[in-house]
Amino acid sequence: MALPWVLAVLSLLPLLDAQSPACPNFSVPITNASLDQISGKWFYIGSAYRFPEYKKEASKIQAGFFYFTPNHTEDTILLRQYMTIGDQCIYNSTNLKVQRENATLSKYSES
Ligand SMILES: *[C@@H]1O[C@H](CO)[C@@H](O)[C@H](O)[C@H]1NC(C)=O
Ligand SMILES: *[C@@H]1O[C@H](CO)[C@@H](O)[C@H](O)[C@H]1NC(C)=O
Ligand SMILES: *[C@@H]1O[C@H](CO)[C@@H](O)[C@H](O)[C@H]1NC(C)=O
Ligand SMILES: *[C@@H]1O[C@H](CO)[C@@H](O)[C@H](O)[C@H]1NC(C)=O
Ligand SMILES: *[C@@H]1O[C@H](CO)[C@@H](O)[C@H](O)[C@H]1NC(C)=O
Repeated sequence: MALPWVLAVLSLLPLLDAQSPACPNFSVPITNASLDQISGKWFYIGSAYRFPEYKKEASKIQAGFFYFTPNHTEDTILLRQYMTIGDQCIYNSTNLKVQRENATLSKYSES
């Protein structure tokens, strides 16, 4: 489930960094400043996906919030997510690896 959340927030990054809101640059690199801007608590409001499988997953979420905790030196973001799905409250956390050059995040794997 981490992927849909991350896609949703990542789509905000270019807007945060854009100099002109009318003309966002979609290849801006991730900086310490933009990491600070996404840091903290986020509430899930809604989502839109092109892929049917993400759509299906996201439609199950009744409520949710998540925390981003970036680490500037490690270039990682700790993602802690809380979701209400059905009558269950689900907590999950994962580390995301930041590739600053091309502004992408990937699921972090220790191995
Ligand atoms: C967008 O940002 C990239 C990376 O910083 C830069 O190479 C490119 O020239 C920028 N494009 C525009 C239209 O500003
Ligand atoms: C970032 O990660 C390094 C190495 O694990 C750790 O020493 C440091 O305290 C972390 N910084 C923050 C702000 O969590
Ligand atoms: C980002 O922050 C880290 C840790 O504070 C620092 O070592 C690094 O030089 C900073 N990078 C930039 C581009 O400012
Ligand atoms: C947490 O996420 C991992 C990786 O996406 C997944 O394998 C695991 O089943 C999840 N745990 C829970 C309790 O949802
Ligand atoms: C971004 O850069 C990293 C490291 O240079 C690379 O592994 C990854 O495939 C790149 N991702 C994209 C979407 O270009």
